[in-house]
Amino acid sequence: MNHLTVIPVTTAAPYDVVVGHGILDRLRGLLPAGVQRVAIITPESLEDLLEPFADLLEGLDVIVLQVPDGEEAKNWEVAAACWESLGEEGFTRSDAVVTLGGGATTDLGGFVAATWLRGVAVIHIPTTVLGMVDAAVGGKTGINTPAGKNLVGSFHEPAGVLCDLALLATLPRAEVVAGLGEVVKCGFIADPRILELVESTEPSDLTADSPVLRELVERAIRVKADVVAGDLRETGGVDGHPGREVLNYGHTLAHAIERATDYSIRHGEAVALGCVYVAELAARAGGLSPELVARHRTAFGKVGLPTSWDGADFETLLATMRVDKKARGNQLRFVVLEDLARPVVLAGPSEEDLRAAYSALSDRQGS
Ligand code: GLY
Repeated sequence: MNHLTVIPVTTAAPYDVVVGHGILDRLRGLLPAGVQRVAIITPESLEDLLEPFADLLEGLDVIVLQVPDGEEAKNWEVAAACWESLGEEGFTRSDAVVTLGGGATTDLGGFVAATWLRGVAVIHIPTTVLGMVDAAVGGKTGINTPAGKNLVGSFHEPAGVLCDLALLATLPRAEVVAGLGEVVKCGFIADPRILELVESTEPSDLTADSPVLRELVERAIRVKADVVAGDLRETGGVDGHPGREVLNYGHTLAHAIERATDYSIRHGEAVALGCVYVAELAARAGGLSPELVARHRTAFGKVGLPTSWDGADFETLLATMRVDKKARGNQLRFVVLEDLARPVVLAGPSEEDLRAAYSALSDRQGS
C-alpha cells in the first residue's frame, strides 16, 4: 500500500504528480534545488495538518500564510495579503510556495506564486479528491472578482504535485463523493475503465485507504495529465478532439446551476447534473445512444451524485450559459460525446434541443 505512483505531466515545463499513502516526506524531493524559503499557503481550518512540516522542511525558512476556507480565499485582498507577507520575508525567485488545501487554496496559492516576481515555484499538496484530480494539475490559477468566478488568473504550472491519499481520511463523505463527479466525468470523456470500476464498487467502499479509490484518482489524474500535455493553454486539440476544453464536459450547465443556487451546491454535484444534461443534449443534437445517456445517470448516481434537478427555470440558466466564459461570441458551445470516450464540440445547438435536454434533466421520472 505504501508504494508510489508517479504520473509525469509532459508539458514544456514537465513535472510529476506523485500519488500514495503517507507520502508527505516526498515534498522535499519535489522542491527545486536551491530553495531557501518556503511559504505554506493553507486554510485556517487545516491547521492540524501543519504539524509534520517543521520536520519535513527542517533547515529551510518556513512561513505559514493562513487564508480563509474555500472560495472566501479567492479574492484580491487575500492575494494582496500573501504578497505583502512574501515581501516582508524577502521572498526571491529561488524560493517556493507550497499549497496545502482544496481546489480553492490551490487556485489562490498558484495565483500568488504565478504573480510574485512574475512567477516562483509552487508545489501543490491537495487535500480533497477534487483538488487531486482537477485543480492541482494543469497550471490553472486564479481568483474571483465581483463579475464572476476565476476571471483573473494565469497559467502557472506547479513544480510538482503530491497527492497523499491519507489526507482524505478526515474529509467529509459528501466532499469525497463530490470529488468523484470529476472522476466519473473523466470516465466518459477518455477512460471507460473508470466507469466499470465505479459501477462494480459499493460507494461506501470508496474510503481513503481503498485501492479502488486510489485507482480512480490515478486514472483521472492521467486523463487530465494527457489532456493538458496536448493543449495546456486551451487553444484547441487535433483531429477533431476538443483539446483542454474537453475537461469542461458538463461544466457549462454546471456553472449556471452553481450560480442559480448561489454556490450552495457542491461543484462535483453540479458537474454530475451538467454531464447528464449534455448527454441528453447530444442524444437530441447528435444522436448519442439512449444506452449511453442512461449510463450517465447510473454511473453518477452510483457514487451518490444527483442526476436530476429542477431548481431554476430554463431561461435563467440559459442566460447564464450565454455569458459563460467558454462561450465564444454569441454562440453557445458544449463538449458532447459522439460515443464513449469520443468527445467533440457542439457549437450553436438549437434552443429547442437545449430546452428539451433540460426538461429531461428536470424530469424525475427519467432519473
Ligand atoms: N478544470 C478544467 C481545466 O483545468 O482545464
